[in-house]
Amino acid sequence: MNKICRKVISVVLCLSLLLSMGMVSAFATDGTAVERVSCVVNGDTASQRGFTWYTEAETATEIKIFKNAVADVTDTLTLSNVKCEEWEGHYMHQVTVSGLEAGTLYTYVVGDGNVWSDVGTFTTDDGDDKINFITIADVQASSEENFEKASYVMEAAAKMMPNADFVANLGDYTNDSTNEEWDAYFKYFQKYNNMATHVPVAGNHDGLGVWHWFENMFALDTSESVQNLNGVNYSFDYGNVHFAVLNTNDLIAISNAQLNWLRNDMNSTDADWKIVLMHKSPYTLGKDGKWPDALYLSEALTNVLDECNVDVVMSGHDHQYLRTKSLYDNAVAEDGNGTTYILAGTAGTKRYEVREFMPGTYMQTEFIDALTIQKNGYGNYWDGEDWDQTDPERIGGVFSTMSIDGGELKFEAYVVNDETQELKLIDEMTITKETGENEATFEGDNSTSTFEYALDVVPSFLSLAAYAIGNWLIKTVFNLPKILYYVIKTDTF
Ligand SMILES: [Fe+2]
Repeated sequence: MNKICRKVISVVLCLSLLLSMGMVSAFATDGTAVERVSCVVNGDTASQRGFTWYTEAETATEIKIFKNAVADVTDTLTLSNVKCEEWEGHYMHQVTVSGLEAGTLYTYVVGDGNVWSDVGTFTTDDGDDKINFITIADVQASSEENFEKASYVMEAAAKMMPNADFVANLGDYTNDSTNEEWDAYFKYFQKYNNMATHVPVAGNHDGLGVWHWFENMFALDTSESVQNLNGVNYSFDYGNVHFAVLNTNDLIAISNAQLNWLRNDMNSTDADWKIVLMHKSPYTLGKDGKWPDALYLSEALTNVLDECNVDVVMSGHDHQYLRTKSLYDNAVAEDGNGTTYILAGTAGTKRYEVREFMPGTYMQTEFIDALTIQKNGYGNYWDGEDWDQTDPERIGGVFSTMSIDGGELKFEAYVVNDETQELKLIDEMTITKETGENEATFEGDNSTSTFEYALDVVPSFLSLAAYAIGNWLIKTVFNLPKILYYVIKTDTF
């Protein structure tokens, strides 16, 4: 029986069980209804997951886990970090579940023991070297209408890859991180959160004005998190891939402490593939690529990525699709053994053009392998020399899929047409490599205490300031005529 059939049967069986148990969430009107449910990576992907949900009223925190939907195995599992805390006018519930079996399909419900959520599913990592996952970025909606439009992109992604091991969201789930916006996000995306494990990446909009939204929305492993005021950095293994998730949204996009954490983290694995997921992008032609923090990423961060043989970086923030060639030391890696940077485009409706003063100044055009942007009612794409090639089929939100099987990585990016929801393949890439070549060279504790992080803040700001003055400012002054011409012509910066 294939994975999809097993999932469908599991959900049906689990629903029957629930109905026989009593109420489900839809019938609750006394503040006990279960909302904003997520099941996220948390430590060992073969045996552990983190769950979060919300209620309006203070209720008990209960979870039921079913193995293959036929057996309630909750009593055989370990539940830790069980919380019910008031957060921004609601009650936030979190549980970490460990003791799961590898390579097993689970279904779950969460609630107070009487009122339960809809059924969610996830599958634990089976330890082989195959993995499939979906990525979206920058839904960043405020209105229900725009959340709904973005959900069509996720719907297309779920149909394209129904057996995804996880769905990664590269940040900016909402625009202003209000209760209303998070409710709207979950209204339109809950069913996709229910289909597989979620991998959240913090965006700068995910906690605007209120710190710690992100860790209260997703039950992540924060044990090694360096910067966690407005996001969380963490890492995990899935298949033969080691993933590091960065937080680029704190007081500084990347501190020396987070760079040190990343270096140790990437040197602690012998996984065949190394992938970094983050929100802000080191390489972009969008409006945010002109600021010192983006350019600093393309220097300080990429040095560490080069050093640690990171294969792919996926990011968001600038709402355009851009994939670089393989880069090493801020130049094209002629042997292909560098890092590929993918700015994943937006699943939402707010899309950024190319700032015409940026190519050749803030980013070298020879780095670009693929680019899709949208302006003047057309999708525009890169033809090898220019981004101004028009294509009306490229108007829509973007999602991407990645499949890794042993030494082969296949990546595809699609636009989902705003009007027709038809798919347009806008980019594809395959990387092959010899497996078994990475070695772990770091062992030991990679946590950073609050005191150590505080001590690091001033030197980190000084590093950024030195870069801003010594590099960014010179670049900006040198290109001022070009920038001013563009600003006067378009009234944008
Ligand atoms: Fe952003």
